[in-house]
Amino acid sequence: MKTEDLKALLADMSLQEKADQMMQLMGIFYSDDTEGILTGPASQLGVGEEDFWMAGSILGTYGAKQLMEIQKRYMERQPHHIPMLFMMDVIHGMKTIFPMPLAQGATFEPELSGKCASVAAKEAAVSGLHVTFSPMVDLVRDARWGRVMESTGEDPYLNGLFAKAQVEGFQGDDMSEPYKVCSCIKHFAAYGGAQAGRDYNTVELTEHTLRQFYLPSYKAGIDVGVGMVMTSFNTVNGIPASTNKWLMRDILRKEMGFDGVLISDFSAILETIAHGHSADEADAAKKALEAGVDIDMMTSVYAANLCKLVEDGVVSETLIDEGVMRILELKNKLGLFENPYKDADPEKEKTVILCDEHRALAREAAGKSFVLLKNEGLLPVDMSKKVAFVGPYTNCREIISSWAVTGDASSCVTIEEAAKEVFDLGRTTFHQGCQMLGNDYHLEGFGNLGESVPKEFSEEEQKEMLEAAVAAAKEADLVIMPIGEHFLQSGEATSRAMIDVPEIQMNLFREVAKVNENIVVVLFNGRPLDLREISKTAKAVLDVWFPGTEGGHAIVDALTGKVNPSGKLPMSFPYCVGQVPVHYNQYATGRPNPEGVEERFKSKYIDIPNEPLYPFGYGLSYTDFEISPVSLSGDVVKDGQPVKAVVTVKNAGKVEGTQVVQLYIQDVTASVVRPVKELKGFEKVTLCPGEEKQVEFVIDEPMLRFLKADGSVGSEEGKFRVWIGDNSSTKNEAVFTYEK
Ligand code: BGC
Repeated sequence: MKTEDLKALLADMSLQEKADQMMQLMGIFYSDDTEGILTGPASQLGVGEEDFWMAGSILGTYGAKQLMEIQKRYMERQPHHIPMLFMMDVIHGMKTIFPMPLAQGATFEPELSGKCASVAAKEAAVSGLHVTFSPMVDLVRDARWGRVMESTGEDPYLNGLFAKAQVEGFQGDDMSEPYKVCSCIKHFAAYGGAQAGRDYNTVELTEHTLRQFYLPSYKAGIDVGVGMVMTSFNTVNGIPASTNKWLMRDILRKEMGFDGVLISDFSAILETIAHGHSADEADAAKKALEAGVDIDMMTSVYAANLCKLVEDGVVSETLIDEGVMRILELKNKLGLFENPYKDADPEKEKTVILCDEHRALAREAAGKSFVLLKNEGLLPVDMSKKVAFVGPYTNCREIISSWAVTGDASSCVTIEEAAKEVFDLGRTTFHQGCQMLGNDYHLEGFGNLGESVPKEFSEEEQKEMLEAAVAAAKEADLVIMPIGEHFLQSGEATSRAMIDVPEIQMNLFREVAKVNENIVVVLFNGRPLDLREISKTAKAVLDVWFPGTEGGHAIVDALTGKVNPSGKLPMSFPYCVGQVPVHYNQYATGRPNPEGVEERFKSKYIDIPNEPLYPFGYGLSYTDFEISPVSLSGDVVKDGQPVKAVVTVKNAGKVEGTQVVQLYIQDVTASVVRPVKELKGFEKVTLCPGEEKQVEFVIDEPMLRFLKADGSVGSEEGKFRVWIGDNSSTKNEAVFTYEK
């Protein structure tokens, strides 16, 4: 449709019809043919049945046949036959589930993440969907927050690269093209800064920190044309994001140039009353509209209040027109006026979803996301040895994460299934050992997840399970222990004060350790965990996160050496919970803590180190890499005159491997203090044994820019340090100066 036609359509719409376009409801309200089903929800929401048939979009329902039916019925009744938008959380895969986003961050390969997004888009599109609420690009520093699994980590630069790649993967160049969906960056803004890691909690950041660290990843998605942005639940410096005019109008729209559809998070406009910012629903509607929020997710705050607010002269209809126009434009960009069903196709659904090609990509991505945290010679597994797999994840299918709501655990390959394809069954045994969680562990609010809640074995059964596992461990040369968090212990509303492996599994670990010292832990986790005991006792630790549909195959690939681990931590693993929030790109203090200097009045803990257990960028390989000292092509960077920083990377080990060579820079003295180190570039290098390669980074003036004390962005003259290494604690340093 041409813009003039959209304008004419808007001009012909009634005020209520426009307000209803700005309302988003759950798809389940529409999924029955009997229209009577609407009466219940309609009365609860305080809007009439006719408003249901004018809601501009729905969320949370998929399936080509069903969505085509809903679209048909809807368009027949909608006064202008405007098509409806179908949205859903397709986060790390639709049916073929890829590793969770934090794990994708560990690949340090945004292009791969882009490919996963494009496969997810294809499976979503044939299932009838038009929009995915993804990617979540919130910067995360606090492992207690359950949603760190949805982010790509603690680094603004890395997050920005992933944001860009994922948006491009979902949308392509033109979202009306076949198999593309509109992407939605979330949650604007700084949702990851929740105080004490408690979900939905207050966010208090200086404007400098907000702009310098938290905003760049949203901007990266906006710069490549993301179609939608979602508000966050939290307040930002005292004002809820969803009614925060400064954040939405001044920063998001004016400064960042976002001209797409802004949607609230689930009932977030209504929640501004509970926050103590809006007096009632009408006030919330007014404030959110003035902030420029176009769609009210899952409440009728807009639909029930906007008309009256206009009639009473409280808000101008022009604001409503602006929002509705953006919604119509999005429908138009997706080509829905010409083809309201877009790619929905029940036949294609059968062939495209979980096809071999998609599964192969899921296996590759999972393999590349694993981080080898420790290895004292036990990995890859010597296949002539007697192996016992012991742990609740040995034959568990719940490995796709709690935020893969469209995925099915039944499609997953377990470790045991995959291992049986390659291990000698005469020498290999498989034991659950214990439940995932103890019977006394209460997962509050998850009762309706049926099968997912811990299965209750009697005390007698648990004792037998443990004894059988320990006996097998005693007999074996090597024990592989797939253990970790229950998949419902991470994700939304799953903040944890104790970030550990459940006690019942630690008990199993300790019992096994008493009879066999050769333990390899295969760790499942949605967040960095406190691994002090595991990393001290186990001889090898392979972090596999929540690896997705092909997790079992990918894990066996890594255990057997078919795939050499190359993942790097996108988030620091704290020494213990008392250290969080901990991140590598922190500031120095006036009382630094140099190694080996005995001194009382330093910025330090008296009981634990300052350093995390495993730093950002860390991850081992089955081979050894040597990185030469940094050589600079000059020691002065000037405007238009970059300097090259070069190292030679050598595979000094016995097998092929991939190293992520990382470039960090520090601006030593500046008008505002700068982080002790910041990632500015990286290159993934794959080398055969004995092979070496020069890796070169160009350091130019734009790389040195930051938000200065006067509020402008630019670089400042002076001394800089540069490091090139294999993780953020590298000491491979050189020095240069920048002169204008
Ligand atoms: C989450 C969002 C999600 C939305 C819709 C909310 O609870 O915070 O990330 O997109 O629900 O499912």
